[in-house]
Amino acid sequence: MTDGLEGVVAAQTVLSDVDGAAGVLIVRGRSLDELAGRARFEDVVALLFEGFYPDLPADIPAALGRARVEVFAEVGALDTGLLDRTPIEAVRALTARLADGDDIETAFRLLAAPAVFTAAVVRGQAGDAPVAPDPTLGHAADALRMLRGAPATKAEADALDTYLVTVADHGLNASTFAARVVASTRAGLGSAVLAGMSALKGPLHGGAPGPIIDMLDAIGEPANARAWIEAALDRGDRLMGFGHRIYKVRDPRADALKAAVRWLDARQGRLEFAEQVEAAVLAILRERKPDRSLQTNVEFYTALLLEALAFPPGAFTCVFAMGRVAGWLAHAREQLAGGRLIRPASLYVGPMPQKAA
Ligand code: ACO
Repeated sequence: MTDGLEGVVAAQTVLSDVDGAAGVLIVRGRSLDELAGRARFEDVVALLFEGFYPDLPADIPAALGRARVEVFAEVGALDTGLLDRTPIEAVRALTARLADGDDIETAFRLLAAPAVFTAAVVRGQAGDAPVAPDPTLGHAADALRMLRGAPATKAEADALDTYLVTVADHGLNASTFAARVVASTRAGLGSAVLAGMSALKGPLHGGAPGPIIDMLDAIGEPANARAWIEAALDRGDRLMGFGHRIYKVRDPRADALKAAVRWLDARQGRLEFAEQVEAAVLAILRERKPDRSLQTNVEFYTALLLEALAFPPGAFTCVFAMGRVAGWLAHAREQLAGGRLIRPASLYVGPMPQKAA
């Protein structure tokens, strides 16, 4: 038995491979270095869905645009009760309203849902009315437009596209595994996506980037970094945005996102400060845990990028879901295509029944 199933192969997939020793992510035969900054989110959807959805529309951007318009009808259910929840809880609740199924229309509605619902929830929590989708725009550009009520610049849309591409799929991470387990019961794509979202929400997975902003704000200036970091580690806290189960060298996603933050001119001062904090964290983790190789993970630069795009930190996990939903939907169909019910064994270490005297 392996703690946390580390190193256990639980599925065979053609979708993506994480080579932690080399620091390489491959998505269906293409390296992330090749995709990030060049491909659009819709291109990666095509790459991931190909062969798993036989009736895949030829014009994916148009189909996704139509799906955004369809799911926007559910935004009317966003009441004050839901607006009091965290953004990811509200987005999950709205997603649960969509009909379940295994068909391509269901898949596209689920693919569209996090972008439409995140914008509506963020605006609703700020007291603003929701903005309807524009089906003619790319998914990233429309996500930003729905969020702000005004068009995004090309650089901003490209930066969000890079983010969505970067996080679209990543081997058998916790949320994808959860999605595959649910898909294996044949519960439907909606159920699989809700399982993925629920796993993503945790701070050890997709919930890390919000607290990274809190950390940067609490540190305030580079001179405070060492004392703040040491105090956090002395308390037994984990430093969000560092460490990874698989990557023991560079996380290629962190590099891709750092490059995208550079496109957003206004953020240079913030980026320099973050780089100083990053260097301090890495140095202190090396001193304190010399036998571990704890490197910067995807979440550190995610936080900077999403902050620069004006997403509130409380909604960062929802933006992660906007991208990762593509991977969950591809893995769910791959699981349905060939997989058996996922039902591992456990090792019983509890008491045995007493023999009757
Ligand atoms: N800060 C401080 N110490 C850390 C960190 C960290 N960020 N990450 C790992 N460690 C330490 C642990 O305390 C542990 O030390 P010990 O052996 O002396 O007790 C050791 O490194 C190994 O930790 P594990 O929990 O066994 O590593 P695991 O592979 O299970 O965890 C994880 C990976 C959850 C990402 C971890 O590194 C972490 O908690 N990081 C912070 C949260 C974070 O950034 N999450 C986002 C991950 S990326 C993603 O999911 C998209």
